[in-house]
Amino acid sequence: MNFQSIQRYLLACFFLTAFFSACSKSDGGGATPNLCTGVNLTVSATTTSASFCLDNGVITVTASGSTDLNYSLNGRTFQSSNVFSSLAKGTYTVTVKNANGCSKTADVTVGETSGTAGALFTDVKDLLQSKCVTCHQPGGQQPVPNFTVDCNIVVNAARIRERAVVLGTMPPTGPLTQAEKDIISAWITAGGKISD
Ligand code: HEC
Repeated sequence: MNFQSIQRYLLACFFLTAFFSACSKSDGGGATPNLCTGVNLTVSATTTSASFCLDNGVITVTASGSTDLNYSLNGRTFQSSNVFSSLAKGTYTVTVKNANGCSKTADVTVGETSGTAGALFTDVKDLLQSKCVTCHQPGGQQPVPNFTVDCNIVVNAARIRERAVVLGTMPPTGPLTQAEKDIISAWITAGGKISD
């Protein structure tokens, strides 16, 4: 092949490629048909606040305008579920995408419940102060969990209930009285948050 025939060959390839790619996608008819033309995705969300000390916030996304939708949070892998859980407080970018890759984003903020100590939590804190903290503090016999830190009481609510109420194996010196167990149960039944 001489230079001219190579040139002609390349030119022919170029036009054929352009022709077929224009015709292979049916809608629009232009050289770069947009499959998202006419797709109007709308995205909104409801949230459940994270409890102070806990990453238990939830975002439930509601989207419309297309089918086969998938959902992503902060650019992470898409999932088919519209629910994201175990979230810390903060603002997240939700992306909704249909099968053709048409997408829409929305910023969603997860709040946090109050960190102000409620009456039930304060009762539990006082109880742990008198019955547990001698051992459960830095330098104590069992520094973990360290019950001098409020959030450690909240994070360990289920373990505290298990050991001190259900099993009665804490404190090791002998179980709490029923009235003391009731203090822990009342707080956990109310939700086990600092603000309860
Ligand atoms: C005399 C010291 C002492 C006192 C008082 C005490 N603990 Fe403990 N605690 C320990 C020791 C030692 C362990 C580790 C051994 C075990 O699990 O039995 C422990 C373990 C625990 C655990 C298990 C931690 C885990 O990760 O599963 C919990 C929960 C706990 N204590 C709660 C309490 C509560 C609530 C109180 C007060 C009502 C209390 N403890 C009082 C010594 C104490």
